[in-house]
Amino acid sequence: MTTPVPAAVPAPAPPRRTAFHPLTVSEVRRLTDDAVEVTFAVPEELEGSYDYLPGQYVALRTTLDGTEIRRSYSICAEPRPGEIRVAVKRDLGGRFSTWANDFLKAGDVLDVMSPSGGFISKHPMNELNHPGDLDLSGEDVFVAVAAGSGITPVISIARTVLAASETVRFDLVYANKAAMDVMFLEELADLKDRYPSRFALHHVLSREQRISPLLSGRIDAEKLATLIDSVLPTRNVDEWFLCGPFELVQMCRDTLASRGVAAEKIRFELFTTGQPNRPEGQAGRPVAADPDADNYSITFRLDGLQGKVASPTHACETLLNAALRVRPDVPFACAGGVCGTCRARVVTGTVEMEENYALEPDEVEKGYILTCQSRPTSPAVTVDYDA
Ligand SMILES: Cc1cc2nc3c(=O)[nH]c(=O)nc-3n(C[C@H](O)[C@H](O)[C@H](O)COP(=O)(O)OP(=O)(O)OC[C@H]3O[C@@H](n4cnc5c(N)ncnc54)[C@H](O)[C@@H]3O)c2cc1C
Ligand code: FES
Repeated sequence: MTTPVPAAVPAPAPPRRTAFHPLTVSEVRRLTDDAVEVTFAVPEELEGSYDYLPGQYVALRTTLDGTEIRRSYSICAEPRPGEIRVAVKRDLGGRFSTWANDFLKAGDVLDVMSPSGGFISKHPMNELNHPGDLDLSGEDVFVAVAAGSGITPVISIARTVLAASETVRFDLVYANKAAMDVMFLEELADLKDRYPSRFALHHVLSREQRISPLLSGRIDAEKLATLIDSVLPTRNVDEWFLCGPFELVQMCRDTLASRGVAAEKIRFELFTTGQPNRPEGQAGRPVAADPDADNYSITFRLDGLQGKVASPTHACETLLNAALRVRPDVPFACAGGVCGTCRARVVTGTVEMEENYALEPDEVEKGYILTCQSRPTSPAVTVDYDA
């Protein structure tokens, strides 16, 4: 996708700047053979930096075999001060998730970025970490479709909205290969016990036969249509939450759009773009700057300080890649256009953004870009990470 980005207009209240802090793992709890829940203790003096809304994620940073790696993980608990809980599912052959499942233990210290992300309810929450303040009115209905580790942000959202109002209904379609892969099995059963008439859980298993054929096999467009027509309370759904593999999320979005569901009622989160090329390929790519060559001039503001870097036009590098040459603390996590950590606002000049799975259309309208996906198209570009 190539998106010409217009110059910026004034932005609303600035989001909190994300920053890494070393946090100690207080517990590692096995959820399934291939998934662990990891709890980080947040010291009192840092609590203000780790407030979050249900659905947000943290980036974790560590060094494995001499290489720094960053990965994002959604927070799986409802907002509460003093800790951050994430769940890491082993990705076959994956570096961080394999290490976390096999070796991470209580007492280890990892760099944890303060929470961010836009996979959150649009119902205003008056204060972070106070789900009781969620502004819900009347009989709000939420429906979520999650697959595999896509349950992590969804369970946090479900717990929060169900606790926030006695009239909320939450339906969850949760897809897995087999029963043994289901993360948070007990916690989901507890939610059902606690809210028997308001929380409905539909487990769909692709490799196991369930009594209902509807709940067996992969969720394709046909199965989703049947679920919508026969099982889900799809009239007057307030918000849809979709989190899982790229193809499933896209299929759900297309199906909902074809049924006239307004885009602003659909929130989605992707953990990867599903593309074979390695996402982190760009961030940190070595580029030799030559002052006599043709260069783009990139200026950026970060934490109130201005940085400037020349980017050779032939290098076709992203703004993030160039900025990292002069400021190693420029924020990023996935480098693949899915997490939104590298967001900045274009102040002058123009850029082209390749992929965008993280910014809402209204943010793009206002001039926000993902710097890991954006390349200059004018000789000089200024962006503001603090906006
Ligand atoms: C906003 C966000 C939230 C997320 N939340 C969660 C969450 O709550 N829980 C969760 O488990 N995950 C979550 N993820 C995904 C997570 O960040 C990691 O991407 C995931 O854990 C895999 O990381 P890894 O280091 O184990 O795998 P990587 O080493 O990055 O590898 C990923 C995949 O690519 C394959 N691969 C690696 N190298 C190559 C190569 N050279 N050629 C071909 N294939 C290769 C691996 O086999 C593996 O299947 C989230 C991602 C985002 C962006
Ligand atoms: S770093 Fe994740 S979208 Fe840019």
